Amino acid sequence: MTNRNLLVTSALPNANGAIHLGHLLEHIQTDIWVRYQRMRNNQCIYCCADDTHGTAIMLKAEEQGTDPETLIATIQAEHERDFNAFNISHDNYYSTHSDENEALSKAIYLALKDAGQIKKETVNQLFDPEKNMFLADRFIVGSCPKCKTSDQYGDNCEVCGATYAATDLIDPKSKISGAKPVLKESTHFFFALSNFTEFLQQWTRSGTLQEQVANKLSEWLDAGLQDWDISRDAPYFGFEIPDEPGKFFYVWLDAPIGYMASFKNYCSQSKMASPDEFWDSYWREDSEHEVHHFIGKDIINFHALFWPAMLKTAGFRTPTRIHVHGFITVNGQKMSKSRGTFINAHTFAEHINPEFLRYYYATKLSNDIDDMDINLQDFVQKVNSDLVGKVVNIASRCAGFIKKKFDGKLSAQPTTPLIAEFISQQTAVEQFYEAGDFSKAARQIMAMADKANQYIAEHEPWVKIKQPGNELDVHNVCSDGINMFRIIIAYLKPILPTLAEKSETFLNVDLLSWDSIKTPLVNHPINKFKPLLARAENKDVEAMIAASTELSEPDTTDTEDTQAASSTASSAVSNTASNTVSVTAEPILPEIEFDDFAKVDLRIATIINAEAVEGADKLLKLTLDIGTEQRNVFAGIKAAYKPEQLIGQQTVMVANLKPRKMRFGVSEGMVLAAGPGGKEIYLLTPGTGAIAGMQVN
Ligand code: 2FM
Ligand code: ZN
Repeated sequence: MTNRNLLVTSALPNANGAIHLGHLLEHIQTDIWVRYQRMRNNQCIYCCADDTHGTAIMLKAEEQGTDPETLIATIQAEHERDFNAFNISHDNYYSTHSDENEALSKAIYLALKDAGQIKKETVNQLFDPEKNMFLADRFIVGSCPKCKTSDQYGDNCEVCGATYAATDLIDPKSKISGAKPVLKESTHFFFALSNFTEFLQQWTRSGTLQEQVANKLSEWLDAGLQDWDISRDAPYFGFEIPDEPGKFFYVWLDAPIGYMASFKNYCSQSKMASPDEFWDSYWREDSEHEVHHFIGKDIINFHALFWPAMLKTAGFRTPTRIHVHGFITVNGQKMSKSRGTFINAHTFAEHINPEFLRYYYATKLSNDIDDMDINLQDFVQKVNSDLVGKVVNIASRCAGFIKKKFDGKLSAQPTTPLIAEFISQQTAVEQFYEAGDFSKAARQIMAMADKANQYIAEHEPWVKIKQPGNELDVHNVCSDGINMFRIIIAYLKPILPTLAEKSETFLNVDLLSWDSIKTPLVNHPINKFKPLLARAENKDVEAMIAASTELSEPDTTDTEDTQAASSTASSAVSNTASNTVSVTAEPILPEIEFDDFAKVDLRIATIINAEAVEGADKLLKLTLDIGTEQRNVFAGIKAAYKPEQLIGQQTVMVANLKPRKMRFGVSEGMVLAAGPGGKEIYLLTPGTGAIAGMQVN
């Protein structure tokens, strides 16, 4: 079979935030696939970039007192550092804010225009009269027209789930300036996606997509496609539309073109003779090379509707396959800053061996788009049991005997039929890798590791070596063990490149290639065995969670924690939802002026009742008497205090905090507490200081 030529991409991370566990899932998934393809001797080029355009990045730069170019350069350096730590083998990591991308975006737009697929329309949009800019829905807040909850975004209500137009919000405000937005007309440009329904109906069923994805798209296609608004008004950080001053490409138009642009930059950076021809050999309409995109299920519409329609119209080939994955949850819930489960790549790599995450993700990944749960206890248990307890154990059990008793040399021939059995499973492992069924590949490989360990245990070389006359037997068993280890590591190499590299040194081989799997090592000298992997430790996971726990910004996503935080935590006190953060160690809030502090109405209150809240793990409901009136406050201090310990005590509360509707009722203020969190949270009490020595044990 002739080798394949593949261009592979992961979705381009936004240049306004750090790489986290979610990005890593996708990049690790892509990287395993890419490394597998390279092991099969296919030409496989992996390109990615930061997605740099849009209002959010423009505003963030402004907020930081810098320009967008400086911001995106800083973020890109951090992203590259993080991907390197996880051994993501991008051939090129670029930026959508590049000359190549600008030229390609403009050329593609002009091709769409020439083909008569760009329409001009007048739209009415909310406009911030102070900032002089049009506002996207997420930059407008107001009260929900249905349930009247305040502080809801311009497209849907997080409380009652209603969807609406931003113009329907009651008392809308610009999130940027606070000004009341006004309706204003603007000319926008639309890509006539509705003309592509038939093409997309066929394309989405042509084997390019997983069935679950094609089914989802069918629902949208059946409901009818709308034309796609591809323009935004100045001010906007992006590329200006040719001949349309003040109009910019919407970030999602130039983002996927960023795949082509990153590859273009790769070609021109390389020493190849004809970079343009090489680029063209992948992108021309009749190319037989392959283009593979790995993406999350939230961006299917951009990749499987807009993108192929644009490419086709502009005379380029369409993607060979779009590999879609589901989302991750951590410990059964959405990633949460207050729970410390919103874990950035950098924090992870500071505490835990990144290869462990590569392996754990591999054991979760399949070819479907279902969500995957990352359970951190299971994670520690699994990587230790599989990688340290099973795989590395094979080598560590056998290596010493070979080195000490047999001059470091493997025996003259394999003796166990297990070696042939493992080799015979190569095709099955290949199929799992090719299909992205990494969990099945990992399971199959671990079954081999189990068999290898069982074989060594049955032959007890450590017992036999003590009895004279068993040397040959021990030499064979241990050499077989090392050969089985070699096959297992070669199979795992796309998932665990660092472990594979260390094993290559130990095995004294240049490269564990896919082709070498079927050739056992005979009469081969190996090197001294050095520990290949240190166990994952629970304490490191705990330290990682502590380092990921945020004090200041309660999540808007996790109900109880958010509310607990808002009812007890404040700038100088602890977020009781976070179990591990020391307030004194991490002063992370910005300075405030005295006038800001003076706005806080602190009152001494007597706790006249305290009770547990049904259905809430962390909350106590306190009834506070502040002299003039009584207030109900929900406080996240259940782990620290029994309700009866609190009744009759005095505490300090913020009396003028805006009442907040919670799942369990309205919280009418906030009590002040300090401490690392969890059981160690101390309510502040006048006279005695914190209520010490009253914690629930
Ligand atoms: O969803 C995102 O994070 C986007 N930045 C992904 C872009 S992928 C591609 F189209 F550029
Ligand atoms: Zn509502």
